[in-house]
Amino acid sequence: MKLYLDTANISSIRRFNQMGILDGVTTNPSLISKEDGEFEEIVEEICKEVKGPVSVEVVGTDYETMVREAKQFSKFAPNVVVKIPIIPEGLRAVKTVSRLGIPVNVTLVFSANQGLLAAKAGASYVSPFIGRLDDIGHRGMDVVEDLVKIFGNYKMKAEVLVGSIRHPLHVIEAARAGASIATMPPEVMEKMVQHPLTDIGLKRFLDDWAKAKKKEKPSITV
Ligand code: E4P
Repeated sequence: MKLYLDTANISSIRRFNQMGILDGVTTNPSLISKEDGEFEEIVEEICKEVKGPVSVEVVGTDYETMVREAKQFSKFAPNVVVKIPIIPEGLRAVKTVSRLGIPVNVTLVFSANQGLLAAKAGASYVSPFIGRLDDIGHRGMDVVEDLVKIFGNYKMKAEVLVGSIRHPLHVIEAARAGASIATMPPEVMEKMVQHPLTDIGLKRFLDDWAKAKKKEKPSITV
């Protein structure tokens, strides 16, 4: 399963990329707005750091503007993926943009029907937002499970990119469901690394080693 960071923060992206666990990045207008600097510069810096796909979202809501923005963003870097919302004009734009050879991530997907339409229009990635569904009392993972099944049934090329992940259990559930990608905030990826028993275990090993060293038993020096 591929793991993406859902952030535009370059320090966080570098931190996890250096660990060798980062397959890509997703951004959105809210995440970009939190960072200092020009939009294009932020995107270019992320695209230089991460070799995998970097999703960048259009802000236009009419067909012409979305297509224009998509063409513009695709020139920022070869690994840019254009994010387009699942609205009627958006689907039109997905068709045009994907046929130009620009990969598209269809965003703000809250139902399996929306995801199916996005895949049919030519999306490379379909992003169900599970946390926001959970927030309103709907099981977000149902949409993920349905889409994995549907795309598999009909051998559709679109990948399920699980977004709006709130905690590490969401990542495990997405992996169990067979989603291709989970994108998460840096805090969630951090929690995936951590386990209290790892910290306790490491401390015990190092304490024992220090005690043994005092007795001058092991000949290995560290
Ligand atoms: C996905 O591509 C979106 O950027 C993101 O996951 C939205 O998550 P949120 O509900 O935490 O804003």
